[in-house]
Amino acid sequence: MFRKTLRKLTILNSLVFFLVLVWFGGSLYGFVAYQLFDEVDDAMRDRLEAFRVAGGRPSMVFSRPVAFDPRIYLFVRDAGGRVVNFFPVDNIEAVKLAAAGARPGKPQMQRVGDHIYRSRSVPYQGGGGVLARPEGTFAVTDVVTVAIVDSEAAMLRRLLMIILGATAAGMLAAVVAGYFLAGRALVPVRSAWEKQQQFVADASHELRTPLAVIKTNAELLLRYPDRTIRDESVRLTNVVREAGRMSRLVATLLTLARADAGQPELAAEDVRLDGLAAAAAEQFRPLAEQKGVSLGVAAKESVTLRADRERLQQLLVILLDNAVKFTPSGGSVSVTCRRQSGQAYLTVADTGSGIPPEDVPRIFDRFFRGDRSRSRGDGGVGLGLAIARWIVESHGGRIKAESTVGAGTKIIVSLPLK
Ligand SMILES: Nc1ncnc2c1ncn2[C@@H]1O[C@H](COP(=O)(O)OP(=O)(O)OP(=O)(O)O)[C@@H](O)[C@H]1O
Ligand SMILES: [Mg+2]
Repeated sequence: MFRKTLRKLTILNSLVFFLVLVWFGGSLYGFVAYQLFDEVDDAMRDRLEAFRVAGGRPSMVFSRPVAFDPRIYLFVRDAGGRVVNFFPVDNIEAVKLAAAGARPGKPQMQRVGDHIYRSRSVPYQGGGGVLARPEGTFAVTDVVTVAIVDSEAAMLRRLLMIILGATAAGMLAAVVAGYFLAGRALVPVRSAWEKQQQFVADASHELRTPLAVIKTNAELLLRYPDRTIRDESVRLTNVVREAGRMSRLVATLLTLARADAGQPELAAEDVRLDGLAAAAAEQFRPLAEQKGVSLGVAAKESVTLRADRERLQQLLVILLDNAVKFTPSGGSVSVTCRRQSGQAYLTVADTGSGIPPEDVPRIFDRFFRGDRSRSRGDGGVGLGLAIARWIVESHGGRIKAESTVGAGTKIIVSLPLK
């Protein structure tokens, strides 16, 4: 699946890069060609201008040193296309051939023999269309300027080669770099995808266990249709308990799914964190006493912040549930709540079993349970701290754990006061 995406991304990257290169190379080539020929065209125009200034007498043109460029020829043609006058005289046959291709308007390029010519025809306007020469008068239609542009053409050819070479090298680099970058870009996607796969697998697994219990108990009930509800109360209790566990699990999964989809549905109201902590501790006191665990709250100052009251209650329940659950008889759990440098700090510390150092970074992962065999009996699936982390982070806060095996665990939550 990722191979295909990687290939697609690479091709797309390379294509975009290729288009950019072609666009850039084309622009460069066009610009240079324009500049080069613009100069030639200017020189041709100058020559024509000099011809006009000189009164339409070609022989006089070349006495003007300013406009002189030995590569530029000037012809005067009559209505039949015959050359009436020309200068200079060397290499003239080829030039004449080139001149024959000249059209009015845009300059033309053509190769004749060993040279490349650029020619342009301009209608003759001087002397009423008549050119007077010592050898007679000629009816003239147009003046043709022809320039030899071998060096410009050679330069453009070299430029084209360089551009093609650079484009090819650039493309190779783009494919390699594109492949590498696409691979890098896919790393977080792949890890998110694998996490999601793991989540679905774990969730299915957790749902399958209560379902199996419900199914076997129901099948056993059906086997003895004559027994009373009282007779089968144990099995019925199992069914009810497992159904309850399933519905809690589904509710939790739904919360996480909503959190993933970015719909936190957080309410924002002024909440007294110290009051919430005290109330939550009261809620857990019977359970703690029953286990022989002492439970204390140290919340002397009032800590008010804008937050979702229900979510914070849920957070406290998750943390206290863990603390009481993982603390054996004779231990203690303490909740503290205080303000410090713009943050509200909530700490739940216990003197319980502690968490092995290698597990500490993983306890906030979904479905992570330290001791799988034991936690199952406690009804834990390992989602408590994952939800806790989501609640804290959705409030813009941070949660971390400090723990020593055998000595106890401290979960520290910091929430921004504003
Ligand atoms: N106070 C604690 N003392 C020792 N270990 C803890 C404590 N809190 C969490 N843990 C460890 O972290 C794991 C994950 O905790 P979490 O609350 O996410 O799951 P759980 O309590 O096992 O199940 P659930 O909360 O879904 O009922 C626990 O299984 C346990 O191993
Ligand atoms: Mg828990």
